Amino acid sequence: MFVSDSILLQRDKFLILMNFEHEIVWENAQVYEEVYKNSIKDPNEFWMRYVKDIAWKRVPNSAYDNEKKEWLFGGVTNVCYNCVDRHAAKTSEKTAIIWHGDEENERREISYAELQQMVIQIASILKSHGIKKNDVVGIYMPMTPEAVASMLACARIGAIHLVVFAGFSPEALKYRLTTSNAKALLTITSFRRGGKEIKLAKNIPSDFDIDVINLDNISFSNNAEAGIEWQTSEDNLFILYTSGSSGTPKGVLHSALPYMLYVATTFKVIFGIRRDDVYFCTSDIGWITGHSYITYAPLFHGLTTVIFSGSPTYPQADRYWKIIEQEKVSIFYTAPTAIRSLQMFNKKLVKKHDLSSLRVLGTVGEPINKSAWKWYFETVGNKKCPIMDTWWQTETGGIILAPLRNLEQTPGVAGKPFFGVETDIIDGELVIKNKFPGLYKAIVHEHTTPDDALYKTGDGAVYQGTDVKIKGRMDDVINISGHRLGTAEFECAINKVSEVKESAVVAIPDELKGQTAFAYVVLTSPLERNDFAEIVKKIVNSTRNNIGSIAKPDYIVFVPDLPKTRSGKIVRKLLRNLANGGENLPELHSVINSEVIKILKVSVKNPIFCPDMCKLK
Ligand code: WT7
Repeated sequence: MFVSDSILLQRDKFLILMNFEHEIVWENAQVYEEVYKNSIKDPNEFWMRYVKDIAWKRVPNSAYDNEKKEWLFGGVTNVCYNCVDRHAAKTSEKTAIIWHGDEENERREISYAELQQMVIQIASILKSHGIKKNDVVGIYMPMTPEAVASMLACARIGAIHLVVFAGFSPEALKYRLTTSNAKALLTITSFRRGGKEIKLAKNIPSDFDIDVINLDNISFSNNAEAGIEWQTSEDNLFILYTSGSSGTPKGVLHSALPYMLYVATTFKVIFGIRRDDVYFCTSDIGWITGHSYITYAPLFHGLTTVIFSGSPTYPQADRYWKIIEQEKVSIFYTAPTAIRSLQMFNKKLVKKHDLSSLRVLGTVGEPINKSAWKWYFETVGNKKCPIMDTWWQTETGGIILAPLRNLEQTPGVAGKPFFGVETDIIDGELVIKNKFPGLYKAIVHEHTTPDDALYKTGDGAVYQGTDVKIKGRMDDVINISGHRLGTAEFECAINKVSEVKESAVVAIPDELKGQTAFAYVVLTSPLERNDFAEIVKKIVNSTRNNIGSIAKPDYIVFVPDLPKTRSGKIVRKLLRNLANGGENLPELHSVINSEVIKILKVSVKNPIFCPDMCKLK
């Protein structure tokens, strides 16, 4: 355990500061235990306190209606109204969004009044294109105020937004828009990242029949036509695709009002926000973090949210630190993979900036290793800021685990369930046993809803004392630099290469990215050794074209066959084990072509490193 005196001291200070605007008093562990116990016994009482933070057109009778089995039943309001209009009315001049672009001098400030005008403008464009309540609208945009405003514009008119990460390929974009029945797509022509121009509009397949709305020249206007569509407990806010065990990504549907209650409350309590906070989250609106904790939660509370569309290492690896200094950021939320990559650069790049405005640090997306935690705590936080290691998922909408009782902190231990959420570990898997407002409503094209009794997270976990430590995914999901990708998605893309007969992809640890993809590939006919470079390139290109450049396998081994069971199932456990250097091979008796194991054992030690191979020629 890593316990620092200074964090204990600072934690006390933090606790006092938190009392400033909060009713929950975090003096000691017992307070957490008590508030938690009551929140499970009577979730209604707990959530009703935070239902009051929402500006209602009609107030719901209770937080959870047992009969209707619905959160906020009877309540009427609108998510955009809560995130924009009510602040534009009261604190119109306050900065809602600070944007930093790719170049260091690119900066914009958008006040709540201006954000409202921008949202109304986009909403009226959507309406003029015939978009109505419940229509699905794609958003394929980089990190700009317009992208955030596009999400809010959909929320305003009751349309369901579907953000597709701007790094996803044309195929991935098309799949998401088609399977969710999207009516229109908001995009811009191009943007710059890391000094390079990225031509986004070119990625929209020309044979694809969808109403493309280009927002290159959006102006502020006050068009009364784009009025607010009031939402009830049954209405939806967005669909966001993520990877599961099946071959194709799944479209996760979230409600409007219960989701808003969950993200607003977790944000308020876990980060201990104050009205004057300047908050900077380095995620992207293409991921759930960018939905919940760049857009909705900070704007709901009327804070200033900083967004950045550049690369953290361009022109130098101090962009985050520079932005924190310049904007006096008080809460900074990033991913372990970003910390690890910035940790490699000279400490001076951090130390030359005044980061004393920081009060709370957060991480999300993957387990944080000790060395990254220590560096974040000492070098970035100057041993003064608690680190909120937050565990959650696209499906949970908002944070589930955090060091909520953090009188002391252990690197890599996310800690305690949020109030009103009952977690458990069953057969090594983290599960959620009760209803909470953040949980997704459905997987759109599969027409499935979450299991009533138990939500299985797919993550392995263990108790460390009474805290929960996350071990990582138990299913066929790979977490590469905090990006969640399915092994089956990789395999589909690899199998599209005409020389490939079949493939199996497994996750292996990677110092920088957390995990990376290791591919076993069987070819239709044997190749000469010097022909491999061509095939490797084809494989890498196919994953890039079908998924996106974030999804390239790093290692490939060409093998004559894959281990299979009598029914023809690939024995993935064995492949996972071998790629991870495993010696104790499981379930060998079920493999019918056991002669292949010997070959696998040898070839697995000599994989082709794709980035090297792709550099050739
Ligand atoms: C998966 C969810 C939550 C927003 C970003 C990712 C892993 C997430 C942590 C953490 C260990 C974590 C889990 C989870 N994960 N946060 N603090 N410690 N693992 O959302 O794309 O839906 O991925 O990310 O494996 O299941 P996502």
